[in-house]
Amino acid sequence: MVLPENSSIVIFGASGDLTYRKLIPALYHLYANQQLPESFVVVGASRTEYSDDAYREKLAHSLRELEQTEPDTLAAFMQHVHYQTVNTADQADYANLAQRLEALAVERGFTQRNTLFYLATPPSLYGVIPANLAAHGLNNEDNGWKRLIVEKPFGYDLASARALDKEIHQHFQEHQIYRIDHYLGKETVQNLLVFRFSNAMFEPLWNRNFIDYVEITGAEFLGVEERGGYYDGSGAVRDMFQNHLLQVLAMVAMEPPAQINADSMRDEVVKVLQSLEPLSDDDLRHHLVLGQYTASKVRGDLLPGYREEPGVADDSRTETYVGLKMFINNWRWNGVPFYVRTGKRLPTRVTEVVIHFKQTPHPVFGKNAPENRLVIRIQPDEGIQMSFGLKEPGAGFNAKEATMNFHYASLAETQMLTAYERLLLDALNGDATLFARTDAVEACWQFVQPILDYKQDPQALFGYACGTWGPQESDELLAVDKRAWRFPCKNLADTEYCEL
Ligand code: BG6
Repeated sequence: MVLPENSSIVIFGASGDLTYRKLIPALYHLYANQQLPESFVVVGASRTEYSDDAYREKLAHSLRELEQTEPDTLAAFMQHVHYQTVNTADQADYANLAQRLEALAVERGFTQRNTLFYLATPPSLYGVIPANLAAHGLNNEDNGWKRLIVEKPFGYDLASARALDKEIHQHFQEHQIYRIDHYLGKETVQNLLVFRFSNAMFEPLWNRNFIDYVEITGAEFLGVEERGGYYDGSGAVRDMFQNHLLQVLAMVAMEPPAQINADSMRDEVVKVLQSLEPLSDDDLRHHLVLGQYTASKVRGDLLPGYREEPGVADDSRTETYVGLKMFINNWRWNGVPFYVRTGKRLPTRVTEVVIHFKQTPHPVFGKNAPENRLVIRIQPDEGIQMSFGLKEPGAGFNAKEATMNFHYASLAETQMLTAYERLLLDALNGDATLFARTDAVEACWQFVQPILDYKQDPQALFGYACGTWGPQESDELLAVDKRAWRFPCKNLADTEYCEL
């Protein structure tokens, strides 16, 4: 295994939730599995004042709470961690940061000044930090690469995403910018490509001639938890649909890339996103359902409605559910509906893609011909389920639906990297394949903008009880086409975990 080059990793937003819950655990695992550079430093940067030791102690404490850690490995990892107070608006603090990075590089004997900056801050700082880094030469690649990971949301709508892109591009070039969408870091999302393009038995069928329709579901059981303040200004369309679900859709629908590298892959992704049929007023009225969860009892517990959540306005009209029927205008997919839904406080946490194949040309074995269906389960119980017809034992020739399941868990020897581990490693290695390119982000916003405008319409929001599959109106989206959403769970009454 080739390790990334020696480098410094600077995390802005060092005392934030993302750093504690995702970034530090990911770096710790990479370290424990000997996947980080031979020599590296992690520098936490935020406004709060900490000494290196105090910061290390806080991180170690939170890591131990989250999972089982190995004391010696944890102690050794922490020796790579440092802390630098940075008030993101204060020029002097960037000068101090630059000096500190130089001193650490000298101390560790780095020959290059390779640096990865991670913006795990509120989005309002995504423009300011790159500008201030550049003012102190921290974008300069003469003596080693400088890369910037930008968390989502990248912009708030089409106009702000374009403005942010312009702002960042004044200081960093496109090859230095890594827009993270953690769904692309998920092993099972990447597998969509391998499954499609390495199996001669599926790829020939993967088009409008054989596929009837496609469902994409990103359901969550949890509500907005402590994030009401952020979420109320965002909503499901911006939080999940514009990024994660459209990226999954692109993986399902894209053409095979000429090569597996950042340019080829992202060229194909952007072609799909640019082929999404623009939503007309009629589509918004008939093909879109927005919902908001209301208080109700689930498995014996009374769950608060969205408007009762901390940080949410009493009269909020922010959507926590979105369901949409959409089309891709290209040769492969013309006329095939993609039904996409995501929501909070649905019955369970499940992300899956369902491919429904067309029926045989003539139903020889009776009218109720079994369906040919592929369920590609992204999470949990990652795997693939195939349904097909078999003869029902006994007299006559009745066809019956049978299913075949593959569970990733059965590959016991395989340890999957978490999404953040994979993406951090890729960024350290300079591989942008699984990061969103500027034109893809723009194409997503372009598609979504009419929904954002429509959301202003006071008629546009339906209520749904916690623990249900969204507003009843979302069933109608498919019912008018004589179809129904797949119901992914068997035992909604007493389990939250959804087996394939
Ligand atoms: C985040 C959203 O990007 O993705 C959250 O902001 C959401 O609201 C989360 O809960 C879902 O990610 P995952 O990996 O748990 O499916």
